[in-house]
Amino acid sequence: MRRRNFISACSASALLSAPATPIISADTLQAQITALSAFGRPNGGNFASGVSRVGYSDEDIAGRNYAMSLMQKTGAKVRLDAAGNIFASRPGTDNSLPPLLFGSHIDSVPNGGNFDGDLGSLASIQVLQVLNDAQIQTRRPLTTVIWACEEASFSGAMLNGSRMAAGELVPKEFDQVSRGLIKTEAVRRIGGNPAQIETAFIKPKQYHAYLELHIEQGGTLARDRTPIGIVDGIVAVDSFEVTIIGLANHAGTTPMRERQDALVAASMLILAVRDSAIGEPGAQVGTVGHIDVTPNATNVVPGEVRMSLDLRDIDAGKLKRLGDKIRAQAKSIATNTGTEIQIKAIVHHEPALAAPDLQRAIQSAADKLRLDTKHLPSGAGHDAQVMASLMPMGMIFVPSIGGISHSPKELTSWQDCANGANILMESVLALSR
Ligand code: HGY
Ligand code: MN
Ligand code: MN
Repeated sequence: MRRRNFISACSASALLSAPATPIISADTLQAQITALSAFGRPNGGNFASGVSRVGYSDEDIAGRNYAMSLMQKTGAKVRLDAAGNIFASRPGTDNSLPPLLFGSHIDSVPNGGNFDGDLGSLASIQVLQVLNDAQIQTRRPLTTVIWACEEASFSGAMLNGSRMAAGELVPKEFDQVSRGLIKTEAVRRIGGNPAQIETAFIKPKQYHAYLELHIEQGGTLARDRTPIGIVDGIVAVDSFEVTIIGLANHAGTTPMRERQDALVAASMLILAVRDSAIGEPGAQVGTVGHIDVTPNATNVVPGEVRMSLDLRDIDAGKLKRLGDKIRAQAKSIATNTGTEIQIKAIVHHEPALAAPDLQRAIQSAADKLRLDTKHLPSGAGHDAQVMASLMPMGMIFVPSIGGISHSPKELTSWQDCANGANILMESVLALSR
């Protein structure tokens, strides 16, 4: 029997022999993740086609309504804050205590996968449902949350709902426009109220701690055949908007040496980003994922390019150095190509360390369910890194098959989903006694 199946089989039997702790079933998670995946599925597609449920879109609103219906079924008190974040609160026996907060997001990248955020969001709601079914009352009240627009698909800035709740979103971000929609309007579309955004601000000590279950999105756990990841820290992220201004000209009559070709300059800068990121030891990464060429015509020398730049590393100091290096290279590329290159910072996300107490709670949950664990950093950004600035934070990872994510190929086994959900539940019980 393969090692992981053996562990899963043990975990299943361990679950049966463990004291009467309720179990979140793989079948329920499969049914709910599959149901959620229908909102934003490509026409004529199936589960394997993935999803485009970008923040603030009609598909996102439909997915949010589905998730809210599951929250309401648990009997929890469901409310939206002014940022459009959805909270479901369940009383404890001592409601003078700050609640334990846990959740994730359900918006996706364009052509994304069915597990990123969805697993953590639906598993969190399942924790409430299963505690209800088992008539288990926690001492501490519990609150699950679905954060609005976690992905960067609206104007290149990610972690929108959680940053609004943390009071981190700068006013000018509300003026950003994406898909013809201004962010203020987008937040209203999902039931938020930007004019009263300060009512969404989470106060210090308002919550006891924050837990998030998420797929790893990298390949470490799958390669290692370890079912549970205990996150040590989440990377710092710097997002930029790059504008390259050349001169649109005739593709046939403009001699090669007289061109100010914005796309040639962009190509040189994209390679410079790659070379800078791999040019020194460490796990830093640099990505240009979005590019617009103007006038984008086959017989015109490109006059202007707008593109994204996403830099990440667990060490914010190293990240700054990487950004400075790329700016310097952009200067010399601009000189060599007769273009102008502007690199505008959109948002900086601080790195965040997990709280040892929460890591211990996750470890003892894994011991109880007899699941192996591995400590690892998160190369992906998460709402958890925003919450870490307000309260102790912990993250639970489960394997991503092949380490693929932000793709329809994103896949986690249903048993691994259930393992993660049951670790979440055990951790919630341990932290809310
Ligand atoms: O981009 C990220 O790391 C996250 O998926 N928003
Ligand atoms: Mn994502
Ligand atoms: Mn995510």
